[in-house]
Amino acid sequence: MQTWDQLFLEVNIATMCSGSTPYGAISNGALAISDGQIAWVGPESELQSYDAKTIHRLDGRWLTPALIDCHTHLVFGGDRAMEFEQRLSGVSYEEIARAGGGIRSTVRATRNASHSVLLDSAMERVVTLIREGVATVEVKSGYGLDSKTEISMLEVAQELEQSCSASIVKTFLGAHAIPEEFQHDSDSYMDFVINEALPLAYERQLVDAVDAYCENIAFSAPQVAKLFEKAKSLKIDVKLHADQLSDCGGAELAASFNALSADHIEYTTATGVEALASSGTVAVLLPGPFLILGETQLPPIDELRANRVPIAIATDCNPGSSPLCSIRLAMNLATSLFKLTPEECLAGVTRNAAQALGLLTDRGTLELGKRADLVVWNISHPRDLSYWAGFNQLHRLFINGGVVD
Ligand code: NIG
Ligand code: FE
Repeated sequence: MQTWDQLFLEVNIATMCSGSTPYGAISNGALAISDGQIAWVGPESELQSYDAKTIHRLDGRWLTPALIDCHTHLVFGGDRAMEFEQRLSGVSYEEIARAGGGIRSTVRATRNASHSVLLDSAMERVVTLIREGVATVEVKSGYGLDSKTEISMLEVAQELEQSCSASIVKTFLGAHAIPEEFQHDSDSYMDFVINEALPLAYERQLVDAVDAYCENIAFSAPQVAKLFEKAKSLKIDVKLHADQLSDCGGAELAASFNALSADHIEYTTATGVEALASSGTVAVLLPGPFLILGETQLPPIDELRANRVPIAIATDCNPGSSPLCSIRLAMNLATSLFKLTPEECLAGVTRNAAQALGLLTDRGTLELGKRADLVVWNISHPRDLSYWAGFNQLHRLFINGGVVD
């Protein structure tokens, strides 16, 4: 008889495997962990003789995969609370950006911040996410826009992983905005990103994926295409901030490079959705900036569903468009703003978020052989995770089989 490290009994399991039952649910289930991986999962009644070093009797609680925040900009200096007040008095995000504020103002603050200030402030945000059951966090650069600060942001991301229990996925977003030094020459800035900043970050093994902001206040589709060619030549996955404020053909562009994800996509058309479906690109919806910027153009939810495009949800945690550091609130907002179902929301922060990071074979569902990243919740049904906002029913979080205090 095999001795497992840990065994969970008397538990309901939302495996989030797509299949016959909603939430891939197994009621009265059991789940075993050995060596940080899921070693058995199924109905408790099918568990034959067993032995485990630790047995957790969970009294009818629910187990889900640990949550994944697949789109954040949580390393940054300063804040933009003043711009928040300006927007409340009627100035738009775009107007602020064009006047030299917006992303550029965070670039100034980030360039001026010390490494330890960047690390400590980002750590507080990561810890806040972990407390809600998040085990994997994607972190983007993009507030440096020079080699030194872009590298420093990615190093902070790497150090976050070394000093906390969550996995951190590092995304190079050198093409986030046009820095002041290149104000009238965005092509030269893109050349610098392609020929200097990205290769340097890549050499230092700081790049898990490449992202860009395709928008009329940032980079055009042809400029982004050049960057994506370079990423592909280095065999790095790409993803895109696409069609957030206008239809720039972002979804089509992302799909043409088989991007992992196209994010925001409020202005994506039916053709764009079809392109995402055929390339297997995940649609990452971001209710935070939608709410905070007072957007009214909804992402094409019905088309995404009709074309079976996987939908993920993320916080987009950043100081400008989304000062939101709660994946649970993002889920709740996705129900009220986008009318996603609670099941779509949970899939959006587990299975589909894992796919958006290229990590689905390893995590995102509770299946044999996957990482034992899981949460025990004090809930009576998984819908409760989208229903409640500001109430944390987390009982225990396990990452790689280890309990997180
Ligand atoms: O995802 N859209 C571009 N980038 C961020 C905003 C970053 C910022 O405003 O600082 C976003 O919304
Ligand atoms: Fe973003």
